[in-house]
Amino acid sequence: MALKTNSQLEKLRLSGIRRFSALAARTPGCVSLTLGEPGEDTPAPVRVEVARDLDRGLTHYPPNNGYPWLREAIARRERARGVPADVADSEGVIVTCGATEALAVALTVVLEPGDEVVIPTPAFSLYESLTTLVRGVPVALDTAPAGFQVSREALEAKVTGRTKAIVLCSPNNPTGCVLDAASLDAVACAAAEHDLFVICDDVYESLVYASSYQRFSARHPELSDRVLVAGSFSKPWAMTGWRLGWLLARPELAAQASKVHQYLVSSVPAFVQHAALRALEWDVRPMRDSYRERRDLTVAALERMGLPLVEPEGAFYAFPSVSALGLGSEEFCERAILEAGVALVPGVFFGVEGYVRLSFACDRETLEEGLARLAGFVGALRAEGGERR
Ligand SMILES: Cc1ncc(COP(=O)(O)O)c(C=O)c1O
Repeated sequence: MALKTNSQLEKLRLSGIRRFSALAARTPGCVSLTLGEPGEDTPAPVRVEVARDLDRGLTHYPPNNGYPWLREAIARRERARGVPADVADSEGVIVTCGATEALAVALTVVLEPGDEVVIPTPAFSLYESLTTLVRGVPVALDTAPAGFQVSREALEAKVTGRTKAIVLCSPNNPTGCVLDAASLDAVACAAAEHDLFVICDDVYESLVYASSYQRFSARHPELSDRVLVAGSFSKPWAMTGWRLGWLLARPELAAQASKVHQYLVSSVPAFVQHAALRALEWDVRPMRDSYRERRDLTVAALERMGLPLVEPEGAFYAFPSVSALGLGSEEFCERAILEAGVALVPGVFFGVEGYVRLSFACDRETLEEGLARLAGFVGALRAEGGERR
């Protein structure tokens, strides 16, 4: 008899983003605008700290949740950035292997088998996969009709007696949109009325171009007892390869989260934690301003191509609609690679059809070349008569 593995894994697919990046890499000369990977390097003063720590022998087991000075610095930063003091208390900080682990821990903490998680969609596929992995049930809430916002009616239509949590990502991957006050309030009403946890994926929180931006935890401190906040060093400091992030929650939730973290990974490496501390002191505003310039360039180019989009107000993604061009998003992206040498990610990988995700995290020269190729491809499709009128 064949041995049977965990049946939940049969429901999971490997990341479609990675698959398209691999196709781009195999295509000679292709310009890839697929990955949420900053074109910059980690700042040198941050990198230097690792060599120093290795030299002084910081190579043994560190405390499970991270060194106290790093946890305190994360809590201080998050308080300064609006997270209520009872959530952003150093006791409630766990230093994790990226936001990926933080989200895995958060979902493990709140879900029992069969519990439902509402995921405003389009969404980063991690939430659906992790929910499935811990035997929860992902429930997509399509935000496209509401301009990628969450309406109370649409949310209520998805809440059932099994709903346990909602995952928020603002600024959003893949749309770059930030949730407005009405969306945050709609979620707060539902969370209060139906006793839901709110898992806030705030990895793009410091890459925001809109002055109106508010974090859910800051706007609704009265719901602190049910909020878990995931953060990351990956994006603002170009530290994707370091695998460093954090989870914040009130002490009673953090105590449960600590168990999951301890049994999954024990801790993050000892000798990256001074570097993480140094990163927190590093001013990300120049990086953000440079992304803002690339955002402006991207939006202007997409407008010239006549591809409708909701202007991204954070992160480094644009999510234009290609539905008028007569191709499904996968076919659009495959042909863009093969015929125009530019790689994007199909919207269907984020749970919606008719859109493509373009990452403008790469350097400006690559971005300009990629946009020029995309313009050529869109023009060729139109000339082919593919556009539906
Ligand atoms: C919305 C979102 N959440 C979480 C992550 C994972 O971040 P990390 O590198 O910290 O694991 C990403 C990475 O692309 C992301 O876009």
